[in-house]
Amino acid sequence: MIYPRVFSGVRPTGGIHLGNYLGAIRNWVDMQSSLKDGLFCIVDLHALTTLSQTNELRKDTLVMTAAYLAAGLDPNKCHIFAQSHVAAHSELAWVLGCMTPLGWLNRMTQFKDKAGKHKDKACLGLYAYPVLQAADVLAYNTTHVPVGEDQKQHLELARDIAGSFNNHYGQEFFTLPEPMILGDATRVMSLRDGTSKMSKSDISAYSRIEMMDDADTLALKVRKAKTDTEPLPAETKELEGRPEALNLITIYASLSEQKLDTAISNLAGKQFSEFKAMLTDVLVDKITPIGDEMRRLLGDEEYLLQVLRGGAEYAAGLSQQTMDKLAELIGFVEQ
Ligand code: AQP
Repeated sequence: MIYPRVFSGVRPTGGIHLGNYLGAIRNWVDMQSSLKDGLFCIVDLHALTTLSQTNELRKDTLVMTAAYLAAGLDPNKCHIFAQSHVAAHSELAWVLGCMTPLGWLNRMTQFKDKAGKHKDKACLGLYAYPVLQAADVLAYNTTHVPVGEDQKQHLELARDIAGSFNNHYGQEFFTLPEPMILGDATRVMSLRDGTSKMSKSDISAYSRIEMMDDADTLALKVRKAKTDTEPLPAETKELEGRPEALNLITIYASLSEQKLDTAISNLAGKQFSEFKAMLTDVLVDKITPIGDEMRRLLGDEEYLLQVLRGGAEYAAGLSQQTMDKLAELIGFVEQ
């Protein structure tokens, strides 16, 4: 299958973890040769919604660019760019925001999770984030959006907003984007708690595998990963109620490119000590070369900026076509 136009992105909010890689970036790389038009964005405007104390947005954006390249995205086959370099994202977000009922945004579970108990102190950007995400995708008339499972609800909202706009103006102006939840590791969980998502913002560094972790750090994190006392079972259904075991086996299966069921039957009866050594080996094998390449690329900042400039030039040209047609449809007077 050829995918006509694919858009996806990751927030540069500090490092990059195994969930971002298995849930998103590795799938982009795998589909690269079946893409007509691939747009892979470092969504720095989205990063502002949870601005960290460390204020390292510039550095984090370059780290994410290096991660995309080191994981295998090829700037000769796709377009890699920073969201802030393309004005259409913010401009379209305003227009779409004026078509989005508050009731739709009130249903977004990620806002509830991220704002926590202090909803009134959360910023407008965090609340409006899904509208900007809709603009990211719709500005390019994207056909497919490969994301992890946590983003499914936002993609459904993007489709609703596009549908509502099309209805209002009585024409199929925006393409309705298809979410693609690919692979077996669509929701990688924390190493410390198998019921919460692996996340950049978790305060414990031991909760996540970072793509720049060295072999010793990987081994230590796997050793410290929470488990239970039972040996590994022979069947998937026996992992019910054992979220940490399920998560570690899912990571192992995904990295070693086995189906989950196959990995489970191959591991049946093993103790965690033996399995953790196997998991460390596959992590070191698959992750450390990416981390090493990221370090090499980060030593050549000019190259990273050049990749971003090239990607932004293409993305700006493409999205401007949408924005010009939109201005005419809405009735913005010509300049
Ligand atoms: N744990 C995960 N498992 C599978 N996929 C994941 N993704 C994120 N976490 C997991 C996928 O990675 C892409 C980019 O995500 P993001 O960083 O832009 O936003 P996020 O989902 O908010 O990621 P984090 O790590 O939880 O960031 P913070 O802590 O900064 O909020 C998306 O495709 C997402 O599905």
